[in-house]
Amino acid sequence: MKRVQFGRYGGPETMSLGEHTLPELAPGRVRVRVRAAAINPLDWKIRQGVMKIVTGRKFPQGMGSDFAGVVEQVGTDVTDFRAGDEVFGTVEIKKQGAFAEVVDADARLVVRKPASLSFSEAACIPIPAATAWAAIVGAARAQPGSRIFINGCSGAVGSAAVQLALAHGAHVSGSCGPASVASVRSAGVDPVFTYADKASFASNGPYDAVFDTLGTLSVSDGLALLTPKGRFVDINPTPGRMLRGFVSGRYSMVFATAGFKNLQELAGLANEGKLRSSIGLEAPFTDALSIVKNAELGPRPPGRIVLLMRGN
Ligand SMILES: NC(=O)c1ccc[n+]([C@@H]2O[C@H](COP(=O)([O-])OP(=O)(O)OC[C@H]3O[C@@H](n4cnc5c(N)ncnc54)[C@H](OP(=O)(O)O)[C@@H]3O)[C@@H](O)[C@H]2O)c1
Repeated sequence: MKRVQFGRYGGPETMSLGEHTLPELAPGRVRVRVRAAAINPLDWKIRQGVMKIVTGRKFPQGMGSDFAGVVEQVGTDVTDFRAGDEVFGTVEIKKQGAFAEVVDADARLVVRKPASLSFSEAACIPIPAATAWAAIVGAARAQPGSRIFINGCSGAVGSAAVQLALAHGAHVSGSCGPASVASVRSAGVDPVFTYADKASFASNGPYDAVFDTLGTLSVSDGLALLTPKGRFVDINPTPGRMLRGFVSGRYSMVFATAGFKNLQELAGLANEGKLRSSIGLEAPFTDALSIVKNAELGPRPPGRIVLLMRGN
């Protein structure tokens, strides 16, 4: 079967659309014929080698995390799924490979696709929504009346965070680029600031939680925006910030993995229309190399980018 793979860590030039034979399906895993795969910044960061401590030095490696498709085969011990089920899910960081005709995934990272969602819509859910869940519901403890500021509220994680915070009754303000102001405002963010308007979003505080999706606020800047018991939540790790997250009671570094156990709940919210992804481009899988390269190097269309496999 065909997949996007890379033979060494590096830029877009390391990617190829190559043939790959999957090993025998391991216990606890499901084999899924991919119908749609959504692109996340994590995909090219892994290919660049940012996570090589986890992803190792064995090549070629597959690329891509979030997918939706149809179960072809289930491993021993898997009782929740059977061949023919329509599902969506993600793969572990060290076992990428969703930009492919077929992917093997841990059954615990896969859930049934609500019939109301297209394969593309479902593929957009896992990493952004799980990260937003871990940040907003987990670390920021959103609740009715809490005031949450989201720095970068227009991207995939940011817009999922806005929707989850609003669904939990929080009041959400946020920052974004000038071109995103109108769409973010119509999503319920109030007030909306541009990134350059730091003084205004500071004077709109203090906040019960600040969620920085972009990693552009320093830890001290973030903490300064908070109420005395407020929490600053970050998702863009550096070694120093990771360490700070371990020792600080008010600053948390969160990862998508912390939200993966909530995929079922996220599917439910999406089914109810409370969690939507804006899809900007659906492109054929055969164009994957140029599509991933353009998403990485920009400019790109607004909204999520989804690769469609044959049969869609
Ligand atoms: N810790 C974790 O487990 C974890 C999980 C997921 C993501 N992350 C990281 O979090 C960061 C945000 O991820 P994301 O998936 O939300 O990224 P994203 O969708 O690319 O959004 C990031 C920002 O890029 C801008 N943007 C979005 N779409 C754009 C477009 N079509 N053209 C130009 N700019 C666009 C937006 O800013 P404007 O306001 O300018 O529109 C947005 O706030 C990334 O660095 C990612 O690696 C970490």
